[in-house]
Amino acid sequence: MSELVSTDEKISYSLAQISEAVLELLNAGKGTNVWALHGAMGSGKTTITKALLNQLGSHELVASPTFSIVNEYRSKDNEPVYHFDFYRIKNEMEAYDIGTEEYFDSGHLCLIEWPEKIPSLLPTQHFEIRIEIIDEQTRIIHYRKHA
Ligand SMILES: Nc1ncnc2c1ncn2[C@@H]1O[C@H](COP(=O)(O)OP(=O)(O)OP(=O)(O)O)[C@@H](O)[C@H]1O
Ligand SMILES: [Mg+2]
Repeated sequence: MSELVSTDEKISYSLAQISEAVLELLNAGKGTNVWALHGAMGSGKTTITKALLNQLGSHELVASPTFSIVNEYRSKDNEPVYHFDFYRIKNEMEAYDIGTEEYFDSGHLCLIEWPEKIPSLLPTQHFEIRIEIIDEQTRIIHYRKHA
């Protein structure tokens, strides 16, 4: 178990309120570049990723990295932002082979869907985000920083 530097916080939001949720996350996650997005299928991991990239000023379309595992975007300051989706990997070696260590160590923001697929590759120091489905329009994000 890693040490917690913050207690669990939560935000409830609908799609109409997602930009406020994203601002809160960007503020809370400051200083931690690896963000682990937990949540069931259809909970909103890709949706929050899109909203984050939008807020960071990336104007590219965000697609789930279905074929590539990782997609690279650029913030408005031309900073790389990486979006991973490990749902389809068969084992951790597959993730290791695409260079996860280099991405995570780069200091650039790494947004990870299905982080539970890479338990031994996920850095101890990360920002944990859990999306809970409340109803069709409502989600609760639980978040905490691990040091
Ligand atoms: N408050 C909300 N936040 C996020 N998504 C919402 C919300 N309300 C409704 N939705 C809908 O829920 C769906 C979330 O889908 P999304 O692709 O983001 O899920 P996901 O967690 O990435 O799933 P997967 O594990 O399949 O990649 C979208 O259709 C979105 O419009
Ligand atoms: Mg997704």
